Amino acid sequence: MHPNVNLIVEPDYASMSKRAAEIFAQVLRENPNGAFGFATGGTPEGMYKELISMHNNDDLDFSEITTFNLDEYHPIARDISQSYYYVMQENLFRHVGISEEQINIPDGTAPDPLEECHAYEQKLWDSGGIDMQILGIGHNGHIGFNEPSDSFAANTNYTILKESTIENNARFFSKAEEVPRHAITMGIRSIIMARSILLLCSGAAKAEILRDALQGPITPLVPASALQLHPNVIVVADKEAASLLNQDTSYKESQKNQS
Ligand code: F6R
Repeated sequence: MHPNVNLIVEPDYASMSKRAAEIFAQVLRENPNGAFGFATGGTPEGMYKELISMHNNDDLDFSEITTFNLDEYHPIARDISQSYYYVMQENLFRHVGISEEQINIPDGTAPDPLEECHAYEQKLWDSGGIDMQILGIGHNGHIGFNEPSDSFAANTNYTILKESTIENNARFFSKAEEVPRHAITMGIRSIIMARSILLLCSGAAKAEILRDALQGPITPLVPASALQLHPNVIVVADKEAASLLNQDTSYKESQKNQS
């Protein structure tokens, strides 16, 4: 593993979630006024539950942070339960006292999505940069909704979802036809501008793509491979997701720390 990637392997989803929450909480405590990037999808749900309990039991304070979410479907209204705005409120924000003024999520109702992309990118710049960006990874290697392509999109962009992504996300809707076909997503540069990246990955079905992303060539066909260019990436994976990685010293070190 390259020295820029700190790989932490946990036995299962629950311990992956706990470990990731501890890492996030440490950065939050060091940067109580910082900007933090959030992801939706199933993978970080357990981590968000841990953060809620740290807020309730250990006074973990979210009241001064600014939040940025990676992406949002388009078109979709905020009060639709599958919108990422709604999902973040349900899974984290409203439970930890994050108020409306703290939240930045691309507007799924923007009449001109390209203008919204531009405005969102500007907000990211104006924030002074994200202290820690949480990421999941799609089965096809997407991060945010940056789908495999023949080039990397640098900035926040308006994208057409791949059929495989629509099928995969249909589990959150009553049928695949209801999944919006477009999304607004932070671009690859917008993501890797974050001062640190916390990538969560769970399950055997992600093992191959995690290996390709972290140890394969850097290519827009595997958008997550761009993370190899970032100087400070922490990957918290469960055993199954990490099973195909070439696990060198960073892996052994993290195992030693756990025993
Ligand atoms: C979510 C996002 C996506 C997900 C990815 C993995 O905001 O940007 O890139 O992180 O699709 O989703 P799960 O965690 O459901 O496997």
